[in-house]
Amino acid sequence: MGEKIKNIAVLTSGGDAPGMNAAIRAVVRACSFYKLECTGVYRGYQGLIEADFETLDARSVRNIINKGGTFLKSTRSEEFKTKEGRKKAFENLKANNVDGLVVIGGDGTFTGGQLFSKEFNFPIVGIPATIDNDINGTDYTLGYDTALNTVVEAIDKIRDTASSHNRLFLIEVMGRDAGDIALNSGIGAGAEEILIPEESMGAERLIESLKKSKKAGKTSSIIVVAEGEKSGKNIFELAGYIEENLDEYEIRVSVLGHIQRGGSPSCFDRVLASKLGVGAVEALMKNKTEIMIGIHHQKVVHVDLVTAIKGDAKIDKELRRVADITSV
Ligand code: F6P
Repeated sequence: MGEKIKNIAVLTSGGDAPGMNAAIRAVVRACSFYKLECTGVYRGYQGLIEADFETLDARSVRNIINKGGTFLKSTRSEEFKTKEGRKKAFENLKANNVDGLVVIGGDGTFTGGQLFSKEFNFPIVGIPATIDNDINGTDYTLGYDTALNTVVEAIDKIRDTASSHNRLFLIEVMGRDAGDIALNSGIGAGAEEILIPEESMGAERLIESLKKSKKAGKTSSIIVVAEGEKSGKNIFELAGYIEENLDEYEIRVSVLGHIQRGGSPSCFDRVLASKLGVGAVEALMKNKTEIMIGIHHQKVVHVDLVTAIKGDAKIDKELRRVADITSV
C-alpha cells in the first residue's frame, strides 16, 4: 500500500472535446466528497511547467457541466516533450504538495503522462477525451458522441441543398487516423459513400460506385470523407478527379472543421464524464497509477496507459457492412 493521496491535480491537454468540463467537475466534486484537496492546472502540461495552478473546490465548477471546451484551457506542449520541461513540472507539483494527477485528453496526453509517471514515479490516471474515439480499451471517448450529433445535424442541412440542386457533396469530417466519426455519421446521415483512413477505397472504385448510384436513380449524393482518408488526394483534389471522370454531377465540397469540436456536450458525454471523473479519483485513492479509466459494456474499467495508447486502426466490419447495404 502506497502513501495516502491528499491533493489531486487535474488538467486537460491536446485537442479539446465536449465533456471535458463535465469531467473536470466530476474530479473536483469527487475530491470534495472524499475530503481531498484539488488543484486545477491551466493550459495542460505547459501550465504544469509554469505552475499555472488554482485550488478548486466543489463550487468552483458550478454551471460548467453543460459547457463545451475546457475552462482549464488546453495546449499541445512542446516543452513537456523535453526532460527539462518534465522536471520543472515535477518540481512544481511537489512544491504545491500535489501527490496525484488526472490527465484528460487523447493519445498525446497519455503518452506524455505515462512517460512522466515512469520518470518521476508520480501517480497518474488518464481520462480519454477526444472526438476521434481512437483510444484503445474504452468503448467511447469523451466528446465523440457530441461530435457525431454535430456532424449528423450539419450533413442533414447539406442534404437539403444537395437534393434541391441535384448535386454531389463531398463532406470532410475530422479523424486524422480514425474513421469512427466518418463511418458512424455517414450511416446516421445516410451517405452514399464513406471514405476512412483504415481502408483505401481508391478513387477509381469511387467513380464506379457513383456511376452505379446514378444508374440506381440517385439524383444527389453525399460522400463523407475522413480527413485522414488515404486516397492520396485531399478533398479538393478528389472533387476535381470526380469532376473530370463523371460529368453527370455538379460537385461541391464542405469541410466541417472545428465546428465538430465545439458545443454543449450530449447527455451521454456528460454522464460518461461524470463516471470517468469519479473513477479517476477513486483509482488514485487506491494508489493506482499509469492507467486510463475507460468504459466497456457500460462498466468503468482500468486499462494500462501503454495499452490505451496503442492505436491499431481497426474498423468495425459490421458497421461497414451495414453502410454498404443501406446505401444501395
Ligand atoms: O484529435 C482531435 C482532432 O480534432 C483531430 O480530429 C484533428 O485532426 C485534430 O484534432 C486537429 O487539431 P488542431 O485543432 O490542433 O488543428
